[in-house]
Amino acid sequence: MLQLNDITVSYDGSRILRGVNLTIEKNSLVCLMGRNGVGKTTTLKTIMGVVRPDGGEVTLDGEPIAGFKPEVRARKGLGYVPQGRDIFPNLTVRENLEISLVANTRAERSNLVKVLDLFPVLKEMLHRKGGVLSGGQQQQLAIARAMLTNPKVLILDEPTEGIQPNIIDLIGETLLRIKKETAISILLVEQYLDFCLQVADVFYVMDRGAIVANGPIDKLGDDIVRTYLTV
Ligand SMILES: Nc1ncnc2c1ncn2[C@@H]1O[C@H](COP(=O)(O)OP(=O)(O)OP(=O)(O)O)[C@@H](O)[C@H]1O
Ligand SMILES: [Mg+2]
Repeated sequence: MLQLNDITVSYDGSRILRGVNLTIEKNSLVCLMGRNGVGKTTTLKTIMGVVRPDGGEVTLDGEPIAGFKPEVRARKGLGYVPQGRDIFPNLTVRENLEISLVANTRAERSNLVKVLDLFPVLKEMLHRKGGVLSGGQQQQLAIARAMLTNPKVLILDEPTEGIQPNIIDLIGETLLRIKKETAISILLVEQYLDFCLQVADVFYVMDRGAIVANGPIDKLGDDIVRTYLTV
C-alpha cells in the first residue's frame, strides 16, 4: 500500500534520515517507534511531501508520489494527523470537520455520519469551539477530520501524547475498530509502548535516522525495548 525505499533527508546540511525503508501492507497497523529526536516526524513529513528527501522513493499503491504536493497526496489517500493535533480552536467541531468536506461530494458527506459513529463524543459537541475541547477530544477531532478525507492510509503522529489514560484506551479501541471495519491501513508514530502492543500488527524501531529493528509486534523483544525505547 505505502512503501518507503531508502529515504534520506537532511536539514541545513545535516543528515536526519539515513536510508529509511518501511512497508505498510493493506489493512495493517504499523507502529513506528523510537526515542525523541530520532526522525519519526521527519519520516511522516517526507511521506506527506512537507519535507523533500535528498534520495529514495515513496510509493502509494505502487505509484511514486515524489512529484506531488501535500494536498495532492491527501487527495490520493494519505490522511495525516500531525503531532500536536492542529485543529482550529476558533471553529466549532462541525466546522473543523466540514473543512475536510469543502471540495467533496455528497457521497463523502454521508461519510460524516459514519465517522461520527466512530467518535460519539464529537456528536454531542458539534457546536462547541474546538479550543474548549479537552486534549483527548481534540485528538479525536483531528483523527475524525483525517478520516473524512476517505484515506487509504491514516497517518498519526503520537496521538497519545499528553492525553489521559482513559481517553488513550478509547483512541486505541477506535483504531482497532477502523482496522476491523474498514480497509484503511494505519501508520502510527508512538512512544507509548503499551499502546503499540495493544493496537499494532507490525513494529518498526528507529534510532538516529535509520530503522534498526522491525517485525510482527509479537516479536518485539525486551532487548530491543531496552536498547532503543526505554529512557
Ligand atoms: N525544521 C527542522 N530544521 C532543522 N532540524 C530539524 C527540523 N525538524 C527537526 N529537526 C531535527 O531533526 C531530528 C529529528 O526530528 P524529528 O522531529 O523527526 O524527531 P522525532 O523522532 O519525531 O522526535 P519526537 O519524538 O520528539 O517528536 C531532531 O534532531 C530535530 O532536532
Ligand atoms: Mg515527532
